[in-house]
Amino acid sequence: MSTKVAVVTGSNKGIGLSIVKGLCKRFDGVVYLTSRDESRGKAAVENLNAEGLFPEFHLLDIADRKSVERFRDHIKEKYDGIDILINNAGVSGGFISTHYDECKSIININFNSILILEELIFPLVRDNGRILNISSDCGHLSNIRNQYWIEKLSNIDLNMDDIVQFVDWFLQSVKDNTFNKEDLADGATAAAYRVAKVALSAATIVQQRELDKRNISINSMHPGLVRTDMTTGIGFYSADDAAKTPIYLVLDAPASLKGAYIWHDGKVVDWYDYKSDYYFKISTVLDQVPNKD
Ligand SMILES: NC(=O)c1ccc[n+]([C@@H]2O[C@H](COP(=O)([O-])OP(=O)(O)OC[C@H]3O[C@@H](n4cnc5c(N)ncnc54)[C@H](OP(=O)(O)O)[C@@H]3O)[C@@H](O)[C@H]2O)c1
Repeated sequence: MSTKVAVVTGSNKGIGLSIVKGLCKRFDGVVYLTSRDESRGKAAVENLNAEGLFPEFHLLDIADRKSVERFRDHIKEKYDGIDILINNAGVSGGFISTHYDECKSIININFNSILILEELIFPLVRDNGRILNISSDCGHLSNIRNQYWIEKLSNIDLNMDDIVQFVDWFLQSVKDNTFNKEDLADGATAAAYRVAKVALSAATIVQQRELDKRNISINSMHPGLVRTDMTTGIGFYSADDAAKTPIYLVLDAPASLKGAYIWHDGKVVDWYDYKSDYYFKISTVLDQVPNKD
């Protein structure tokens, strides 16, 4: 029987590192800690080795097609397949920035990368495998206030071209200075990150339709407000606590759970409920900032 393989992107630190740690303890197979930076990745592996955990390491920059190709070739040659893929790598950027280059880079890493992974890595995921896209509360449809895009993204026949158009619509509005803050929730704070994560969660639904043929499940989730570098250490949960639900979803959840959007407590949330208040609120973060006086 072939060796089972789990891969976690962006796992040299934060939630990804904790997921690797948890999988090393429970998964009956090889766990890949991947990182876009060799020294940060190898340092993370050494720290885990000191705890008696032994993931394999490989370089993987999800926004760099060549890097993804190299990783694909490596896996193909060494194990010929992947059983669990957790797309965790991400960046948030500033809360109020609408500079075009920064928005483009945030969308590139958080959303465009999933198109590269879909093309190059999903074919390696074995039948009955599991994929988890780490999204955010910024990825729930209630983050969108533009009626045209609410309807388009809710359409049962939504396809990837529609989602790419949604992302392009946002970037174009930033470029030509017509971006309307009222199109997004919460005064459009973290605008590019919201658009990227909504696109990622929408893409998950579309990808599930394709992956159904091979009985592969793909879900997206919000991991909670977690104390990592991304939040400058602000949050309700440690990375180890936040890793519990992602690990549950790839190891223990019923295989019938497919194409869903899941909250950090493991509950399935209706992604289409655009009137609900699952959207990200900057006040949640600001309330956690320690009082300076
Ligand atoms: N923390 C939260 O409260 C929170 C809330 C909602 C959603 N999330 C999501 O949870 C995931 C993990 O976030 P985190 O809080 O653990 O953040 P983090 O501590 O900043 O870790 C992010 C990881 O992603 C990696 N990364 C960034 N760009 C990459 C690229 N192009 N290729 C490969 N790796 C890349 C980073 O690598 P470097 O070390 O090289 O930068 C790092 O390993 C993200 O998708 C984030 O959007 C987090």
